Amino acid sequence: MRTAKRIENLPPYLFAEIDRKKEAKQAEGVDVISLGIGDPDRPTPKRILDAMADAIQNPTNHRYPSYAGSKQYREACAEWANRRFGLELDPATEVLALIGSKEGIAHLFPAFVDVGDYTLVPGVGYPVYHTGGILVGGKTHWMPMNDSNDWLADFDSTPADVLANAKMMFLSYPNNPSSAIAPVEYFDRAIAFCKQHDILLVHDNAYSEIGFDGYKASALLERPGARDVAIELFSCSKAYNMTGWRIAFACGNAEAIKALGTVKSNIDSGAFTAVQDAAIEAMLGPQDDVAEMSALYQNRRDLVMDALGSVGLSARCPKGTIYVWAKIPDGYTSAEYASEILDKAGVIVPPGSAYGPDGEGYIRISLTTPDDRLVQALERIREEL
Ligand SMILES: Cc1ncc(COP(=O)(O)O)c(C=O)c1O
Repeated sequence: MRTAKRIENLPPYLFAEIDRKKEAKQAEGVDVISLGIGDPDRPTPKRILDAMADAIQNPTNHRYPSYAGSKQYREACAEWANRRFGLELDPATEVLALIGSKEGIAHLFPAFVDVGDYTLVPGVGYPVYHTGGILVGGKTHWMPMNDSNDWLADFDSTPADVLANAKMMFLSYPNNPSSAIAPVEYFDRAIAFCKQHDILLVHDNAYSEIGFDGYKASALLERPGARDVAIELFSCSKAYNMTGWRIAFACGNAEAIKALGTVKSNIDSGAFTAVQDAAIEAMLGPQDDVAEMSALYQNRRDLVMDALGSVGLSARCPKGTIYVWAKIPDGYTSAEYASEILDKAGVIVPPGSAYGPDGEGYIRISLTTPDDRLVQALERIREEL
């Protein structure tokens, strides 16, 4: 058997690696605390479970779903985006159901990137912005992103030869892993830049609903002219504690939505319609649970921020997401430091370098661990390192 070369070119998938290390340590009898993957520890709210319990009894939901998402689901997505951001979306042409935003990100590559084409990817970001390109023979241009530019990916410095062959640009604010937020003027500049260079702008707004100290993220699609050049991805995963359900949506530029839909209809057969029904309740039902989750993460953020100094780490105080992006002490690479934390303290944290070249010197601490375990993890790091 001979696998395709593109498989050999893929780096090991970060979270699969983390799982592997965790299992190995557990097999040694270590009580491992994972501050690794950003996967909400709280269950999906009951109102959504109840909607699912009804939806699963409906025999029409047992048949193949609609490729683009049910009419009701797409209308609910448009309604949610209207209530939340004031957007006016046409559910028929400007909304597409996704089996999680990861699926949408990966399938944008066959829709937009030919062999040798570039994708402009933030210097740190969700790994699929890069690996999705490898799978189609595309190239990544990393946009510099660091403390001195407030973790706002620098697209202006992209060389002309890259721009001539660039098809897509990814941005994502509130940002994973840096937890940076973007001013709307930055979105405006990105829209103008992508228009000028005829590039699809993809804004991955996976953390739109998690904000602290009164901060509420905005949508890139709120900005003037965005729909000429951009699509935006929203997900129920983090907003409604639904990571396991696999439901999200893409919206915005109709031509791009159509292209993504064309790829998807040749690969998958849509999200389970009962899950779409439950997601309708998630988005259009009472939103108190969303505010409660932000309050819970804000409290954990404070626990971590209070402890960081004594652990020898420092971080900007996040206004959103479920991560603290912490600068590590000098003298280590981020991979060495993460490995030391696991070996000495039995705590898993991903090294910043796993998110892209600009992550060197950082680790990402996820806030999706119960408060007592989070405190215990930080105490262990303080004592053991
Ligand atoms: C920035 C970002 N985009 C997309 C995803 C994937 O989310 P989903 O569960 O909707 O596939 C994640 C998951 O952690 C993420 O951090």
